[in-house]
Amino acid sequence: MKGIILAGGTGSRLYPLTKIINKHLLPVGRVPMIIHSVEKLRKAGIKDILLVIGTHSAGMYTQLLGSGEEWGVQLSYKIQEEAGGIAQALSSAKAFVKPDERCVVLLGDNLFEDDLSGYAADYELQERGARVLLKQVPDPRRYGVPVLDGDRIVSIVEKPEQPPSSYCVTGIYMYDYSVFDIIDGIEPSARGELEITDVNNVYASRGELGYAMLSGWWTDAGTFDSLQEAGNRLMGGSN
Ligand code: G1P
Repeated sequence: MKGIILAGGTGSRLYPLTKIINKHLLPVGRVPMIIHSVEKLRKAGIKDILLVIGTHSAGMYTQLLGSGEEWGVQLSYKIQEEAGGIAQALSSAKAFVKPDERCVVLLGDNLFEDDLSGYAADYELQERGARVLLKQVPDPRRYGVPVLDGDRIVSIVEKPEQPPSSYCVTGIYMYDYSVFDIIDGIEPSARGELEITDVNNVYASRGELGYAMLSGWWTDAGTFDSLQEAGNRLMGGSN
């Protein structure tokens, strides 16, 4: 299983913190944010990792992480010239994943408590398709929200005015190689981006989107409040 961390984007909601440094290099607890994602993958035994980053701060990533040796992983980097959505960033990882491999994809601003080992092992047992991790949240309208039916997801609605459930689809995704064909087949959304929710909905329509619930705390660190919350939670250690 390969690991992919998406760590580009403009971080506009955190301006001016993100004026001179990419969001994923901001401090969260005692380390830059990106370290938490690297550690989560390493602890799950996923050590071959691609970082998808923008041109902004690209040199700082290599300065911090280098080859990955210091962090117990093997890192590759992919530079995206322009941000075009999560699915577009993921499509740039196609050459990194072999047709018979699967991957765990993390949004670099998602911070959480759970160990990923068990979830990854369950995905290995899933015959085909994709798997996402969910978390009950007080404000589902900020996220992708699933419609659940037993052990599968029927569909996901992105940032719904009227959420169909109280769960958020977190930025922890597990895919087989067909994800790259699916991305090729989707169209940009109204905001001009290739949406990861549209990708997940293709799997859902095939009855191939599994899920599990995170048991520990989870937050995205895209806003000032959530960045501070994550920092407070992670002050005691790297994860
Ligand atoms: C993205 C996804 C959304 C998901 C969220 C998790 O939203 O589009 O489905 O729930 O990440 O952090 P964004 O943060 O890009 O608005």
